[in-house]
Amino acid sequence: MFTSISVSRKGESEAVAFAHFQGEKPDSRTLALAAGLGLKDALTAAASLPEATGESGSLAESFSQGAKGIAGTRVLLIGLGDKTKFQVGALRNAGATIGRRLVAVKGRSLSLEFDGALAAAKADVHASGSAAGEGLGLLGWVCDEFRGKATPAPKRTALTLRSSDADFANGLSRGLALAQSTNYCRTLSQTPPNIATTGFMADQAKKLARQVGLKVKIWEGQDLARERFEGLINVGKASENKPCLIRLEYNPSNARAGKPAVLVGKTMTYDTGGLSLKINNSMVGMKRDKDGGCAVLGAMHAIATVIKPRRRVVALLAVAENSISDEAYRPDDVITYRNGVTVEVTNTDAEGRLVLADALCWACEQENPGYIVDLATLTGGVITALGSTYAGLFCEDDALRSKVQSAADIAGERVWRLPMHQEYRDMMKSPVADILNSNPNRKAHAGQGAAFLSYFVEDRIPWCHLDIAGVHVSEKNSGPFIEGPTGWGVRLLANLLDAD
Ligand code: BES
Ligand code: MN
Ligand code: ZN
Repeated sequence: MFTSISVSRKGESEAVAFAHFQGEKPDSRTLALAAGLGLKDALTAAASLPEATGESGSLAESFSQGAKGIAGTRVLLIGLGDKTKFQVGALRNAGATIGRRLVAVKGRSLSLEFDGALAAAKADVHASGSAAGEGLGLLGWVCDEFRGKATPAPKRTALTLRSSDADFANGLSRGLALAQSTNYCRTLSQTPPNIATTGFMADQAKKLARQVGLKVKIWEGQDLARERFEGLINVGKASENKPCLIRLEYNPSNARAGKPAVLVGKTMTYDTGGLSLKINNSMVGMKRDKDGGCAVLGAMHAIATVIKPRRRVVALLAVAENSISDEAYRPDDVITYRNGVTVEVTNTDAEGRLVLADALCWACEQENPGYIVDLATLTGGVITALGSTYAGLFCEDDALRSKVQSAADIAGERVWRLPMHQEYRDMMKSPVADILNSNPNRKAHAGQGAAFLSYFVEDRIPWCHLDIAGVHVSEKNSGPFIEGPTGWGVRLLANLLDAD
């Protein structure tokens, strides 16, 4: 919605935003701040409007006295909700609310002066700035690439942000940068499957590696057979767009000795279901079956450009197109994995777990991981269970789970723990091979997916599986998101590495 957003330390803004809480007038510190900027009357006027309720999402507007015939400074008073329930994440929505208003009024510059309100709520100023920056930055996402001549080009402006509080301004910069990484992920998600092919994803990874300084390796063609990546080979067989495994590595010169974090992403550039073809139009939207991998790419972008942890991070993307042809893999096929586990294919539409298994085997065997986190649009079942409100989290390691939970809380990307149990693992046993890829009993689909994956992760390695099928896309305008891809997971993973 903006051509670009940046933070400036100098100059004046056309609009200044202040904040207050539900049922409260702006506090004395906020009024003093406004007075210093010559905006006290305008702020008091905004606060006296009936819409200045302080409820989250409320917005009241007034102007300072300008020169004759010219409007003065636009004052925006934003509500942060109930002070006793305040959380920093409220600033993400506040940023988005202000951003939507600025788009409507074609605003070009904005100062955020939340010091008084943040002090009243005893909130962390830097984290608040970051959340506000995320809200504005996420709202700013545009993807016009696929519009043609029949759509008039929208007029967009660049937005400059300011704050008289340096700590808040630094937070804004961080939040904007994280939003940029997230928006990169969203643009990849939005890219249609005739363009975002398997080869395209490999090219994107190479480009990212070049731009931000990561090591990159891609296994394709005969490399896959040599390394026995049988899941990728089989799932990808029917498509002229050939499968590959992408490995990216962030290894800073100041890295501490220790095991790397390994991030794994399901990257199905399209999922027709294969021979177990998707029916009743359920194929539409399956260009987004690559969003686990896109989130991992976005996270690597954030890690290399914003977070810069002193820890090695390895990303593995299992990339394939699940298509149909006479060469397609079939229900009844048996696949032997490099860790020796054999899988009877019962449903070619349960393909994500088959390609993730290759990446998980490799990670455990070759990367000596401190922990593994995988992201995958794995099951419709998780949408039935949790809707678009939470991603499904499967993790039996208490320490890793609490780290992921904290990172999710900071990002405002909700996760809900779902159970792993030996009974789910038993449900995956096959009468023919070791395990099957889907039990036709239609029970606990999300849990079946996690149970299947567990056969490819060594017990000693902390592992977290996030099923993001319900959260990677939004059906409506909400908070900083518009209808379309959310980039879910980029900020969670970035925060996870930030805390490491
Ligand atoms: N990519 C789908 C899961 C999915 C469904 C993602 C809807 C986003 C929206 C996955 O490959 C799939 O087809 N899963 C099947 C598994 C079943 C055949 C065992 C499902 O959940 O229906
Ligand atoms: Mn599928
Ligand atoms: Zn899929």
